[in-house]
Amino acid sequence: MKVVIAYYSATGNTQAMAEEIQRGAAEAGADVTLLNVGDTTAEEVAEFDVIALGCASYGDEVLEEYEFQPFYDELEPMLDGKKVALFGSYDWGQGQWMHDWQDAVEAAGAELINGKGLIINLYPDADGLKECYDLGQTLAQS
Ligand SMILES: Cc1cc2nc3c(=O)[nH]c(=O)nc-3n(C[C@H](O)[C@H](O)[C@H](O)COP(=O)(O)O)c2cc1C
Repeated sequence: MKVVIAYYSATGNTQAMAEEIQRGAAEAGADVTLLNVGDTTAEEVAEFDVIALGCASYGDEVLEEYEFQPFYDELEPMLDGKKVALFGSYDWGQGQWMHDWQDAVEAAGAELINGKGLIINLYPDADGLKECYDLGQTLAQS
C-alpha cells in the first residue's frame, strides 16, 4: 500500500503527529512518503490513492492561509475517489477548522478515513501519539 502524508507545521506540533502517523503506517507494512507541503506539489500528492493531510488551526479557525491553503485549493479538485485522512493540532479553539475541512473533503468526493479528522491539543502527549500511530496503521490497511 502506497501512502502519502503531506503536512504544514509552523512550530512542530502537527509535524510530530505526521511523524508518528508515518511510523504507524510503516510498521503496518505501508510504503509511506512524508512530505512538508513546502517541498511538494498538489500534483505529486494526488498521484497517491491514500492521502493523509495535516494542518493546524490558524487565523480564526481556518487552515494556514499562506502555504497550506493554496496547496489544498489546488489539491481539492483531485481528491474525488481518494481515501483521505485529516489531522492537525490546535490550541484554544473547539476544532471548527477541522469540521469545515472534513465537510470540504467529503464534498470533493473523497472517502474520509475514520469519518473524521484527528485533532490534538498542541504537542501530542503519549495518548495523542498513540492515536497518531493507530491512524497510521489504519492508513496502511485502507
Ligand atoms: C496566528 C495563529 C492563529 C491561530 N489560530 C488558532 C485558532 O483559530 N484556533 C485554535 O485552536 N488554535 C489556533 N492557533 C494555535 C495553533 O493551532 C497551535 O499552536 C498549533 O499547535 C500549531 O501547530 P503547528 O506547530 O503544527 O503549526 C493559532 C496560532 C497562531 C500562531
